[in-house]
Amino acid sequence: MDIEVNRVLNKNMLTENDLDLRKSGRDFEIDKVMKFQDTRDVIQRLNPDEPYYLFSAERLQKRAGLFLQHFPGEVSFAVKSNPNPMVIRTLYDAGVKRFDVASFNEIAHISSICPEAKLHFNNPIKWKQSIIDSYYDYGVRSFVVDDMVGLQQILKHCSEREPLADNSLEITVRFTLPKGDAAYYFGSKFGATPVEAVEILKAVKAAKQRCSITFHPGSQCTDPTSYASYIGMAAKIAEDARAEIAMLNVGGGFPIGYDNYQIEPLEQFFTTIKTAFAQTTLAKQAEPAILLCEPGRAMVADCVSLLTQVIHKRDNGTIFLNDGVYGSFQEQLIVKLDYPITCWRGAERIEEAVVDTAVFGPTCDPVDQLGTMPLPASLQEGDWVEFDLMGAYSGVTATHFNGYVIPEYLLLQAQ
Ligand SMILES: Cc1ncc(COP(=O)(O)O)c(C=O)c1O
Repeated sequence: MDIEVNRVLNKNMLTENDLDLRKSGRDFEIDKVMKFQDTRDVIQRLNPDEPYYLFSAERLQKRAGLFLQHFPGEVSFAVKSNPNPMVIRTLYDAGVKRFDVASFNEIAHISSICPEAKLHFNNPIKWKQSIIDSYYDYGVRSFVVDDMVGLQQILKHCSEREPLADNSLEITVRFTLPKGDAAYYFGSKFGATPVEAVEILKAVKAAKQRCSITFHPGSQCTDPTSYASYIGMAAKIAEDARAEIAMLNVGGGFPIGYDNYQIEPLEQFFTTIKTAFAQTTLAKQAEPAILLCEPGRAMVADCVSLLTQVIHKRDNGTIFLNDGVYGSFQEQLIVKLDYPITCWRGAERIEEAVVDTAVFGPTCDPVDQLGTMPLPASLQEGDWVEFDLMGAYSGVTATHFNGYVIPEYLLLQAQ
């Protein structure tokens, strides 16, 4: 294996050194990554004593296809959920050409991998220099705001060198939602009230820029009808502002079938969204609004599993793994997500009855607890525990706390 290329490919974000490598033609080609047939093959060939992410480009292509073929509008990808270069490149090649970026570094990152991608700078909170650099250096013309301060910032910084031409910016007003059934509630941090949103839209219109509107239902939103009611709210805000809407962005929030969730198929969400949208004035404008979604979790969760190893077992049965809440399981501190589990001894699956087992991460810190998991009673030091559905918000939020590694990506590819 080419160690240097592998090192670069497995990073979650690019560094300047990586960009130099890219310029020199050492591109992020999937062909250059070490490939394995399946988990068994990884165990047999690597005997890994550090955690690894096992990435299936094929699964990601399928997922992208599901969104692209069945969502009744445009599809953007929320980069924050997984910025790994292989993931981004795979999505782009599969047909996802829009990306929701939350910071200047994400803009530079995506532009270095797919320079033609359309970027939506959708974090309502933006640092002055990030607006200037994204507008002038990267041609970003789509920004989200959720208050008048944010709108004035955009109008000011995008006209620093020359006056803004009419309709050159797409300014998307994000409004807040009532607390729903999603695992995360975003309303305590983001979103104008409907009344404020009307005023902001009027100000966008007065500034002669394109008006768009958005909401985020909260991550892991399990009720398709929530989207329908939020779409109705968006239309009412647009009507009250008497604004022609260029785009309605229904956010991410689409759920994944973790073991502790019963979820409807994504198609059910898409049909509900399509029907709800068709009933609004947004679909009946002279130029109907473009409908857009920007999934993170539902796009990438199922293309990555995490292979961990048991590093210690106490006499009372408690298990310690080589990854924990300071690594791939940061979300466990906030919400309970039961990842599907497969256990391995050598290259064989352990097919035994499971018992509730207390599981901890490896660091010297009491917060590093993964709770109780159903694991085989015979599980022992040196066995592997593979967690599925680990592609979203795992590697990108992992830390080096206590000197532990952030797992690298390996490519699974059936031959
Ligand atoms: C603006 C925005 N869009 C999309 C997403 C992706 O959400 P999810 O991962 O729930 O699909 C997020 C997540 O934080 C977000 O902040």
